Amino acid sequence: MTPSRHFALIPAAGVGARMGADCPKQYMPLAGKLMLVHVLDTFASCNAIAHTYVVVSKEDGYIDEALAGAKHLADRVTVIHEGGATRHQSVLNGLCAIRGAAGNEDWILVHDAARPGVTAELIERLIAVLKNDPVGGLLALPVVDTLKRSDTEGRAEATVSRERLWAAQTPQMFRYALLRNALEKAIEVTDEASAIEALGLRPKLVEGSPRNFKITLPHDVALAEMHLKGKP
Ligand code: CTP
Ligand code: MG
Repeated sequence: MTPSRHFALIPAAGVGARMGADCPKQYMPLAGKLMLVHVLDTFASCNAIAHTYVVVSKEDGYIDEALAGAKHLADRVTVIHEGGATRHQSVLNGLCAIRGAAGNEDWILVHDAARPGVTAELIERLIAVLKNDPVGGLLALPVVDTLKRSDTEGRAEATVSRERLWAAQTPQMFRYALLRNALEKAIEVTDEASAIEALGLRPKLVEGSPRNFKITLPHDVALAEMHLKGKP
């Protein structure tokens, strides 16, 4: 039996509505490089990653120029122009498009284009911990803040225990067939792990890093640039 390979799948078909920039946020320059190119460079630098697939929307008018400025990625990255209406659909479309290139037992690492703070070390940690795992798992951070549940007027109604609570990050890593089956069955999920949980399985939580946060709002940009400066 051939050993399982690892492929990265980057959903990058969002419009970045909350960021409100004049282009989808994954194409914003950050610390001298486009957000998406930071992500692609990091995966390309990992020897364990056989290839990276990036899913963009059908009408994406930015990806060609982005990759023209990153020629070193030419044989490491393939673009799939089949983004869907939701992240869930974009990932599923990507999985369908790489059927054959990825075998059922190969690992797929799904990573948000909006998390340029990911590092090769974090990716390698995830891969190492999940090497012989029967389910797969994801990077996540234990919650450190005291959590409040509000009433409908925005007043604290209760303090929620943070014991065993984690904030999910990406990459989320599952074997191709399991992931595709889970996402095909799931109704509408915001990450891959929820679809796997819905099958009754328990993805492994692997400690991530605060620097791997998702860039969502304009005020996230300065912090991201701080982390990305000094990164190759
Ligand atoms: N994404 C996608 N297809 C969609 C929606 C989102 O591939 N239909 C991707 C985004 O490009 C991003 C990741 O999923 O890399 C996480 O989504 P999010 O941070 O919500 O990005 P956007 O949907 O672009 O932002 P917003 O929700 O503010 O519009
Ligand atoms: Mg979104």
